[in-house]
Amino acid sequence: MKKAYVYIAAIVIVVIGVTLLLLYLSKDDTSSSNPNDLSNLVESKPLPIPPLLEDVNPDPNLAEFHLTAQHGVTEILDGIESETLGYNGNILGPVIKVHEGDRVKVVMKNDLREATTLHWHGLRVDGENDGGPHSGINPGETWEPEFTIEQPAATLWYHPHMMHATAKQVYEGLAGLFIIEDAVSDSLPIPKDYGVNDFPIIIQDKQLDASGNMQYDPGMNDMMMGLYGNVYLVNGTISPYLEVPKGMVRLRLLNGSNGRTYHFEFHNGQEFYQIASDGGFLEKPVEMTSLTLSPAERAEILVDFSAFETGDEITLMDTVSELGKTISADEVEVMKFHVTNTESEAYPIPEQLTEIDTIDPADAVVTREMVMAGVGSTLTINDKSMDMGVIDEVVNLNDTEIWKVSNKRTGVQGGMAHPFHLHGVQFQVIDRDGNPPPANETGWKDTILVEPGETVRIITTFNHKGIFMYHCHILEHEDAGMMGQYEVK
Ligand code: C2O
Ligand code: CU
Ligand code: CU
Repeated sequence: MKKAYVYIAAIVIVVIGVTLLLLYLSKDDTSSSNPNDLSNLVESKPLPIPPLLEDVNPDPNLAEFHLTAQHGVTEILDGIESETLGYNGNILGPVIKVHEGDRVKVVMKNDLREATTLHWHGLRVDGENDGGPHSGINPGETWEPEFTIEQPAATLWYHPHMMHATAKQVYEGLAGLFIIEDAVSDSLPIPKDYGVNDFPIIIQDKQLDASGNMQYDPGMNDMMMGLYGNVYLVNGTISPYLEVPKGMVRLRLLNGSNGRTYHFEFHNGQEFYQIASDGGFLEKPVEMTSLTLSPAERAEILVDFSAFETGDEITLMDTVSELGKTISADEVEVMKFHVTNTESEAYPIPEQLTEIDTIDPADAVVTREMVMAGVGSTLTINDKSMDMGVIDEVVNLNDTEIWKVSNKRTGVQGGMAHPFHLHGVQFQVIDRDGNPPPANETGWKDTILVEPGETVRIITTFNHKGIFMYHCHILEHEDAGMMGQYEVK
């Protein structure tokens, strides 16, 4: 009896020893191939939900929002304080929610030690309210844009757009969601209870240094390819978890990263439905198991958790592309969903979401060519680098135009994909290399990923006056001059 006990104890000790050794070796293995990967040091925390910003104006005909860009500190890794930037807080900003038809005023105060701007990405407004690089706000000053919401329900966002400083300011934390509702979104039977079954999900990768600090310190490669981080943040937190009801959940995904394009899927391969692209609802939900989002793109998706048991855990993964291999794995856990015992009401996937009037290419008065080219130090559009003093294109007010956006092959590998973004409008995709766009690109878009050698034709009508930007939304490329200006008059 005693002998058997000693025997079993010895086996247990050996098994534990071998397990620890294997764990140690495997850990050593990953850290030696990637000494900067620190995300595994962090315990998963609940997903922070940015607050909805309050309308401070009692006038029912005017919604007024106050934002202050400010310095803050954020513990990305436990116990290590990084200097970050935020709107009304330490990192990121509150969600601004408005309704189609609203008159909106924003008072934006700059409490930073540097100049900034506040750009409404995806909003159809006049150039003077767009917040591009001409609308600099000096430290201590305020900027007060005013506009009317003249577009359908959508998940847009806001971020700085200071010439040569956009990448740094966005990286350090300046970004927030701007949500528009309308009669369609009000009446659709889909989850719409903010923070309960309708969640903002802002995904950004960051480069922590060896001491765990999140500083903007791009290397040569980051400047050329766009910055790729070694940790993924969701709403400013590494690998968080979100408690979800046993039922349908709506996620408003924003790729708020400087350079990384994500290929999202769930670890169990489960399907989900994309219901909205950058500029609003698709006509019909699109069933999918993986979703690509390049920098600045948004997608609203419906995920059904009703078949799970209480306590089940579902992981949202990013399948890491060769380009973004700053992380040793092929797949990275972005966040987890913990299924609670709350049974939510049933939301069948709607057959139809909205109706979109297709713009007829025959209505276009002109086709403009936009040729993106280069990697490294020479990043151009139409062989030009951004010059604040030069208007590159002039558009007549209310004209419909086709923009033929291409990505010229360069170098041995053919170059890299560039997400092309156009200010002041939402556009429709006519075709990709002559083929109809995939179903999830048949709605309104403001940013489109163009692969090396590819040509994408987009079409829109320019209903707002002023000076606007078009650019690659890899922020290091934008800052390096892969941007141009068009004026509508
Ligand atoms: Cu997200 Cu020029 O903007
Ligand atoms: Cu924009
Ligand atoms: Cu680019």
